[in-house]
This record gives sequence, structure tokens and C-alpha cells, in this order.
Amino acid sequence: MNPFHSTYQAGNASIGWSAEVQRLKVQAMMGWEKEYRNLQWFGLKDGMRILEVGCGPGFVMEQLAKQLPNSPITGLDLDENLLKHAEGLFDEQAKKNVDFVQASVYGTGLPECSYDFVVARMLFLHLHKPEDAALEMWRVLKPGGRIVIIDIDDGIFGVVQPDLEEFQSITKKFTDMQGKAGGNRLIGRSLPRLLQKAGFQEIDLETVAVHSDLAGVEGFQVQFDAKRFEGFNRSRLLSTKEFSAISEVAERLSNDPHSYAMMIFVMASGIKV
Ligand SMILES: C[S@@+](CC[C@H](N)C(=O)[O-])C[C@H]1O[C@@H](n2cnc3c(N)ncnc32)[C@H](O)[C@@H]1O
Repeated sequence: MNPFHSTYQAGNASIGWSAEVQRLKVQAMMGWEKEYRNLQWFGLKDGMRILEVGCGPGFVMEQLAKQLPNSPITGLDLDENLLKHAEGLFDEQAKKNVDFVQASVYGTGLPECSYDFVVARMLFLHLHKPEDAALEMWRVLKPGGRIVIIDIDDGIFGVVQPDLEEFQSITKKFTDMQGKAGGNRLIGRSLPRLLQKAGFQEIDLETVAVHSDLAGVEGFQVQFDAKRFEGFNRSRLLSTKEFSAISEVAERLSNDPHSYAMMIFVMASGIKV
């Protein structure tokens, strides 16, 4: 029985818990400036009551709290250890504006109509029941409140240079594997209708392009870290050729000045009217 009803639990990460938390940090920060720019474009303002669902180790919350000093921010996650980590990022003064809730996104237990803005980052691709989560977010938002889902879509996931013959087949395998486990790495494309179905209106969609020349290579190095894929190689989900190709990407990004990479995040938004 999986209480998360999702494909993500940090405790199961093949690289170990601490390395996974570090990976989440780098991944959250690589496009943050642009994500935040879009959040503002979608209407995020200081003073709003904010809920971050699936806040994990709290790095996004930390940024939100710095940039929006008058906003009360709730971080919600089902993972107790990640929540403790998130709490540890805030000193006593900063804690006055934040609170932490251990609950599932499907049934938060939060009062209805209580938030101005909900952010869900890299959560929906993991959810077995994304429609139920969207409905719950609709419930807790105030009328006029907005949700923004930041996620990926493997169809436009990204590119590496030099181009890699195996990139498409590897991506397809991860898409299929995630699908079989009950998640959806193609979720980006279906977010507008997901929000629509949950009752949201004024739906909008944006993308954020993160390029290693501009954001640095670290985020991409952790993304392609061969250690994350060793299990898939052992279980033969990835062929030896495909596994070597991933290792080569990480190696080239570290050592070859002619190598670079780009990754796309999708941001979908809607309002509870
Ligand atoms: C990939 S992490 C993303 C963390 C953070 N939002 C970020 O962007 O770095 C996904 C998070 O969703 C949480 N999660 C997974 N299933 C959940 C559920 N059913 N309810 C609440 N949180 C859940 C996990 O514990 C984890 O912290």
C-alpha cells in the first residue's frame, strides 16, 4: 500500500536521501528566477496567502518567503522527513510567516476557501489521481484565487548537445515506466484540460526554458547523474548502450566546453471564479 498514491518518495531514491534532497535543491533553483517571473505574471503578490503543495525539502518555499515577506505561506507534504528539512530552513523570525502541514494533496484537511495562491511544483507528474488533487486545490482556494502547476512534459523535455542518438529511446522508456507506475511524464500537455475539468477558469499556459549556458551545468549534471540510473541498467530496463549514453552526457557537461543542454518546464494556471 502506497499512502502517497504517487510515484515519488524521497526515501526510495537510488542515490540516497541526502543526495536526493540536494538534487531537488539544484533542480528547483536552476530555473527559479524565470519561474518566479512567471508566477508574478500570473498574479502572485506580496501579502497573498500561499499554499505550496508537495513542498518537499522547502527550497521553493524558502525563495517565496524571501521574496514575499508579508505573505503567510503553508508548505504541505506527506513526507515527514522532507517537512522537517523544510522547517529547518527557517529561523525563528522567518517561522512566524510559515507553517507546515503533513497531509496528502488529495485530502489536505485545510479549510475551504482559505488561500489566494496555490503552487504545485514537480508534483502532478507523480500523482496517481491528478484530477482529485486539482479538485482539492480548487476547494482550498478562495474565490478569485489562483493555482499554478509547474511541471514537465517529456515530449518537450529538453535537448543535449552534442545530440545523442539514444536520447529519444531513453526518454520514451522513462515516460513508459512512469506511466506504468501510475504517474505521467507527459502531464504538461494535459494540464489545461485537467484544470478546466476541476472547475478552474481563465486557464493559461507558459513555459520556462533553462539553458546550461545561462543557468550553469550543475542542474543538468544532477539530472543526468549516472548513479540515478544504475538500477535501471541492472534491471536491464536501460540497455548498456543507453546507460553509457546517459553517463556520457554527464561527463561531457562537466568536461567538454562544446557541450550544453536545455530543459523546458511547463507552467499551467487557472482561477477559481
Ligand atoms: C519531486 S518532489 C518536488 C518537491 C518540490 N515541490 C520541488 O519542486 O522541489 C515531489 C514532492 O511531492 C510529495 N508528494 C508526493 N505525493 C504526495 C501526496 N500524495 N501528497 C502530498 N505530497 C506528496 C513528495 O513527498 C515530494 O516532496
